[in-house]
Amino acid sequence: MMMGLLAFESNQGLWNSGYYSQLFGIGGVMVTVAILWLSTGYFGGIGAPFAPYFWPYLAQLPKKKERKRPVRVYMDGCFDLMHYGHANALRQAKLLGDQLVVGVVSDEEIVANKGPPVLSMEERLTLVSGLKWVDEVIPNAPYEITEEFMNTLFNKYNIDYIIHGDDPCLLPDGTDAYALAKKVGRYKQIKRTEGVSSTDIVGRILLTFKQKEAGSMEATTDANVAVNQNTGADTYDKVKSQLSNFLPTSRRIMQFSNGQAPLPGARVVYIDGAFDLFHAGHVEILRIARQLGDFLLVGVHDDQAIRDRRGYRPIMHLHERTLSVLACRYVDEVIIGAPWEVSRDMITTFNISLVVHGTVTEGSSVVGIDPYAVPKSMGIFQTITSPKPITTVSVATRIIDNHEAYKKRNLKKKASEDRYYTQKKFVSGD
Ligand SMILES: *[C@@H]1O[C@H](CO)[C@@H](O)[C@H](O)[C@H]1NC(C)=O
Repeated sequence: MMMGLLAFESNQGLWNSGYYSQLFGIGGVMVTVAILWLSTGYFGGIGAPFAPYFWPYLAQLPKKKERKRPVRVYMDGCFDLMHYGHANALRQAKLLGDQLVVGVVSDEEIVANKGPPVLSMEERLTLVSGLKWVDEVIPNAPYEITEEFMNTLFNKYNIDYIIHGDDPCLLPDGTDAYALAKKVGRYKQIKRTEGVSSTDIVGRILLTFKQKEAGSMEATTDANVAVNQNTGADTYDKVKSQLSNFLPTSRRIMQFSNGQAPLPGARVVYIDGAFDLFHAGHVEILRIARQLGDFLLVGVHDDQAIRDRRGYRPIMHLHERTLSVLACRYVDEVIIGAPWEVSRDMITTFNISLVVHGTVTEGSSVVGIDPYAVPKSMGIFQTITSPKPITTVSVATRIIDNHEAYKKRNLKKKASEDRYYTQKKFVSGD
């Protein structure tokens, strides 16, 4: 089913490098994704946004017996350091059509326009393809949406609408990058997610980690941030709260959720972790875990639990990490603030059949306590080989290794981010 959903009609050639089989060849089946889209198919057929307040208008339109071809929408991005803001943008884009095609900007184009990307093309493709709202991916999309590329989208990829956020996107000559699409009535806008950006996350990483010696990285505890900056014990929180404007709402969590309980007789698989700086390694391990059963329950540890074990706070806080995990197509349900130790009570409550854990982990500063002692004693514990060696720390390290380059890039971007926030007005949509 997933093969069908993600099948490439005209750009198979782009997948010659093996991404296709690598990403989807094992056939992680997620029926829920397909079911979700069936429910929007009818409305999508006439190109209207699927929102309850459009229903009265729809009722007045003549009903067509013949179902039109699905509405295909396109959105692009660099998706470097992908976060739930990207996920939310793609979720909103998906609501404007039936099939969402996502262009992922090439490494070369990112280097030329913004400086070196933190994540490789392959990692960025894994992350984007792992989102439950994404149907197709176009690798190596151009950074600037040229007239030529726009025509390719319309004619080769059968794109009906190009989607972009409410922040302006200007070409180097100062003109609107989407002018052409707007002129031909094939542009739609979505509301930008409040309070998160890659720039903000890079800032948090630089704040949390400091490079002590070349090649090695050490977590900065709250105490030595205070000492280094000599400004008091709560500096860290103050700085961090300035960086993060994210206001989590229960509505957003609902929008990201599948809202489905396991079907009767389902085999529930449980995996837990911090899932900080959600990366391609997370997507891969979740995909494998999902294949071991019918329902994947993910435990996301709270900020304090992580700090107690690892000696530093996660870069993304609990609700942000929850959204990133929920956005992954392999995930069925999340326990927000899961206990560190898997208890017998939990196993009973959620009817967990199997508890899994990857071989690549961040490590814990607390030794002696095995959080998986209970599932091990019950014979329902399994270690799975992590397919990728990436960790949160390794992603953070890449950023710190290029600290100066990122700092420059960050300052530049920060200025435009700040401008966006000061000039920001209310935009409808969610
Ligand atoms: C609990 O999980 C097992 C699979 O391990 C399944 O056979 C059983 O039906 C489930 N119980 C319920 C009540 O769904």
